[in-house]
Amino acid sequence: MSKIYDIAIIGGDGTGPEVVAQAVRVLDAAAGKFGFSTKKKDYDFGGDRYLKTGEVLPNTAVTDLRGHDAILLGAIGHPGVKPGILEQGILLKLRFELDQYINLRPVKLFPGVDTPLKDKGPDEIDFVVVRENTEGLYAGAGGSLRKGTMHEVAVQESINTRMGVERCLRYAFEYTQKRNQEKKLTLCGKTNVLTYAFDLWERVFNEVGEKDYADVKRDYAHVDATCMWMVKNPEWFDVIVTDNMFGDIITDLGAMIQGGMGIAAGGNINPKGVSMFEPIGGSAPKYTGMNIINPLAAICAGGMMLDHLGETEAANAIESAVMFVTGQKLKSLAAGKMGYSTVEVGDLVIDRMLGKI
Ligand code: IPM
Ligand code: MN
Repeated sequence: MSKIYDIAIIGGDGTGPEVVAQAVRVLDAAAGKFGFSTKKKDYDFGGDRYLKTGEVLPNTAVTDLRGHDAILLGAIGHPGVKPGILEQGILLKLRFELDQYINLRPVKLFPGVDTPLKDKGPDEIDFVVVRENTEGLYAGAGGSLRKGTMHEVAVQESINTRMGVERCLRYAFEYTQKRNQEKKLTLCGKTNVLTYAFDLWERVFNEVGEKDYADVKRDYAHVDATCMWMVKNPEWFDVIVTDNMFGDIITDLGAMIQGGMGIAAGGNINPKGVSMFEPIGGSAPKYTGMNIINPLAAICAGGMMLDHLGETEAANAIESAVMFVTGQKLKSLAAGKMGYSTVEVGDLVIDRMLGKI
């Protein structure tokens, strides 16, 4: 019997629904070709719903989402809503409540895609960032005192638990073992200044690395140096593991060197629960409804979702088709400059995957 995957779809704000629609078409085409099927349920979470109902997420959202095999998310962020409300109330809340403790972000330059790095190409820019996704500065620990006065105090603490750090590192080691023959894992931290947090990270990194993943080469770089090497020698990296805040920052840099937000995808992963896949770029509200936004990042997120669900062949086929489209078809990855509409880019990926072009 063929497998049926039950997918929750959160189109979200701005161009989110448009790019997700193309990702869903590609998933359906992959399902037909590779012998599985999908059942989809749409959720209307996002700015419009919030403005209408005053509710960021309904009470039942987390329980409902737990009932699916995976979640595909478009984008969250609405010009009519104060920044932070939707990001925290939807994106961060789901990451935390669903305990998606890994944020997996491949940084891979596809053929035909421009990178701002001089003399670097697809051979040099191909690594993955494993970002811790439920702790650190994102945990919300802290508070303020005497707010609004000259004596205001604001404290925001980075929470790093042995359990949280260890499960993230183990995931990164296991991912590195499987990824390729290089098997090199770089811990990105700041051991020279953040001497409590990254002391814990470094000790656990070396301890579990030596004991359980001796085949993986361990490397360390401070976060500032990591930024430098990502620009100067990106080929040095295979897999980078880091905390939540540093991971947030270095993956925006990563997205830029791989060709921008139109192509960067990521997964919020709970290896034993429900994971959520998303294009990293924002909701790009000014392009809403114009059929000019690039859907490739969302399509790649759909591919990552299939890989996570165990449909490796289908995931690889989507990636190859995307690489064909960037290499042979698109003029640019930028909205309105691709030489094709959003829907046509979806068509190209599907036609390539089905061997029609
Ligand atoms: C990301 C985003 C989010 C984050 C924001 C929107 C809360 O920047 O997914 O990287 O900081 O994690
Ligand atoms: Mn970010």
